[in-house]
Amino acid sequence: MAPDNRTAICPGTFDPVTYGHLDVIARASKMFDAVIVGVVDVPWRKGNSLFSTEERVSFLENATRELGNATVEPFSNLLVEFARERGALAIVKGLRAISDFEYELEMNQLNRMQAPDVESVYLMASAKYSFLSSSGVKELATFGGDLGELVPDEVARALQERLAR
Ligand code: PNS
Repeated sequence: MAPDNRTAICPGTFDPVTYGHLDVIARASKMFDAVIVGVVDVPWRKGNSLFSTEERVSFLENATRELGNATVEPFSNLLVEFARERGALAIVKGLRAISDFEYELEMNQLNRMQAPDVESVYLMASAKYSFLSSSGVKELATFGGDLGELVPDEVARALQERLAR
């Protein structure tokens, strides 16, 4: 890894992207020269996603364009392999509540066993996004909740079209 090209991977399923994800991506983009947003592209994982990989990638591309140093790519191999392939210095993830910590600690240990050379760093969620999740947003959309403060307009419209009862 050349010291003048410090790349981070911000991975996730992003089904769909929320302002909480975008907050972490934007903060990572200030700390690294380049950010690759890695979108999990494994149809059978965690059940079917609401949005296709192409839709999830497109939402993220539109929402991160103005950052200038972020690109979006699907991946379907191990996260640490994807990070190595892209020459990333670190994997950057957001941490919200204690429940995130337990899951991320387990993932961190597993990832570290697979690839001790790939470091993960964690950014604490901004307070206003501490309890924001893709699944919570889908629940709200199903029952006609207001998504304006939670996801980009394009995502809110897509959620309402697909989920509103
Ligand atoms: O909570 P998310 O958004 O579904 O997390 C996705 C991801 C890939 C960041 C998380 O599951 C993780 O850290 N996985 C490590 C194990 C791995 O590499 N899985 C393969 C994913 S294609």
